[in-house]
Amino acid sequence: MIGKDLLGMEDLEKSEIQTILDTAEKMQEIGLREVKKVPSLRGRTIVNLFFEPSTRTLSSFEIAGKRLSADVVNFATGQSSLSKSESILDTAKTLDAMDPDVVIVRHGVAGVPKRIADVLQAPVINAGDGAHEHPTQALLDILTVYQEKGRIEGLTVAIIGDIMHSRVARSNIYGFLKMGAEVRIAGPPTMLPPNPDQLGVKAYQSLREALDGADVVMALRIQNERLQGAYFPSIREYAATFGLDRSTLRFAKDDAIVMHPGPVNRGVELAHDLADRRPSVILDQVRNGVALRMAILYLIAGRVSRFERD
Ligand code: CP
Repeated sequence: MIGKDLLGMEDLEKSEIQTILDTAEKMQEIGLREVKKVPSLRGRTIVNLFFEPSTRTLSSFEIAGKRLSADVVNFATGQSSLSKSESILDTAKTLDAMDPDVVIVRHGVAGVPKRIADVLQAPVINAGDGAHEHPTQALLDILTVYQEKGRIEGLTVAIIGDIMHSRVARSNIYGFLKMGAEVRIAGPPTMLPPNPDQLGVKAYQSLREALDGADVVMALRIQNERLQGAYFPSIREYAATFGLDRSTLRFAKDDAIVMHPGPVNRGVELAHDLADRRPSVILDQVRNGVALRMAILYLIAGRVSRFERD
């Protein structure tokens, strides 16, 4: 059973990841029904507290909560008393006083979901914090690979691009390693972490070497909003050296799949036609995100509430 909060893949045991994957596979069946709704979380309240923009994570948490019959509140940070200098912690504590059953937090600064979790009675789910972690993205990625390949153990996963600034990369590294995969990273030297050995991964500066024999190729977004200097000479040079297209993909295994957490910079990290068609599984990742987040909400918000415990 997972703990009160879900803050990062670093904290999860392999058995907990497996429980989440098994639960998500059961949730997928609900999404295939004509009436995509079950009463599992009726009477529970979910608050989405997003301080950063999101398309996939925010909408899939909302859809997931509604499919489980929870009441879902998308807190509009831009129209809140934050604009009157109320602090983030006071905002979170104010929402906690309204007795939500779970609060889902995204913030541009690493560690903010943990700071909030430390002072809230409600469980907190990290929906992405700075360059730190994005655990539900990694879990939906692992689910997608598991369903494509039938296993995780023994697979080779190559993550390409801006590893240093990517919370998706960090969470996927923790998650895939715990599930028994080999993880390789590749990108410009300025975008690779200084300590790949400590992370348990092998770092490459050549796309060809990183892809050699890979089962899964994950391209990452070049995060212009987090890059405060020149990490590579030009976008054109990056695309020529680390961009994935059908010709560079030939270095990977014949049945390799291509993943991307989105949003995609088309023509930079991924060629247009690769983003849109097999072996790309980008929209499967998005689809699986709903079932995966249903599983997380069920496992966290579906527990006996503090009122029932008292
Ligand atoms: N993958 C991801 O986190 O996408 P959003 O920023 O759209 O939520």
